[in-house]
Amino acid sequence: MRSNWPRGVNRDLESLEGQIAARGISIGKPLEVMEEIDSTNDAAKRAAKLGAPSGALFVTESQSRGRGRQGRKWVSTPGESILASVLLRLTCEPRKLPPIALVCGLAVRDAVARAIDGNVMLKWPNDVVIETRKVAGILVEAIVSGSSVEAVIIGIGLNVHQRSFPDELADTATSVASFAKVPADRAAILADVLAGIDREVSHVAARGLGLVHARLTAADALLHKRISTDDGITGVAVGIDLDGTLRVRADDRSVVRLVAGEVHLVNA
Ligand code: BTN
Repeated sequence: MRSNWPRGVNRDLESLEGQIAARGISIGKPLEVMEEIDSTNDAAKRAAKLGAPSGALFVTESQSRGRGRQGRKWVSTPGESILASVLLRLTCEPRKLPPIALVCGLAVRDAVARAIDGNVMLKWPNDVVIETRKVAGILVEAIVSGSSVEAVIIGIGLNVHQRSFPDELADTATSVASFAKVPADRAAILADVLAGIDREVSHVAARGLGLVHARLTAADALLHKRISTDDGITGVAVGIDLDGTLRVRADDRSVVRLVAGEVHLVNA
């Protein structure tokens, strides 16, 4: 285990190990803290190949090749975000991955909701938004053997201390600090996220979204909203199904079930 915290401006991650232990969270250890890395998801993948155990957590203050979904970059200013990946060794069918990703998003949503004063929702499939602006994204990647998932890597990028964003994100991104009642504490928020993942992921991997479906629906940022997709579908989102797909009543009155991809809110 290595936990030599970088001497950044914000030192609010230093208590992470203690908070994980104090809360009895069974994941988040061993903890590897890195001042800078290419991508915590890639660090987790490399460590998995070398035999890292389930629950191993990789945290950094800065990424040179942070990745988002759909081949996008994940850009962050050093010391301001939560940039973390947790390795979970669980065996499941690939069709369980969308539900696993959704429940991880829900864990991040719930942790942000506890930290701020504002309306926090989950935008299918994996964005956490505060009043339509993105505060966090989750990138779930699988290690597959044959036709079975052997491990998942849950990558979390969460904007915490940012007070401004680069021009290209200025209209769409936000941070916990922009809504927090008290100074945001990255260790407390990340411990909260891990507690949620610890509580719910193995159950969802084994039995699906049934037990969390009501919470998922209550947090669904797209429910009853007009949306469009990159494939040219427009319509109204009518809910997330138990298999993790997004149901859309398209303008041609057909019902479309989206498995993956990007959905945009259309202004009414
Ligand atoms: C998205 O919204 O597209 C998902 C973004 C996920 C970003 C996080 S930051 C920590 C981890 N390492 C990465 O390279 N990506 C994820």
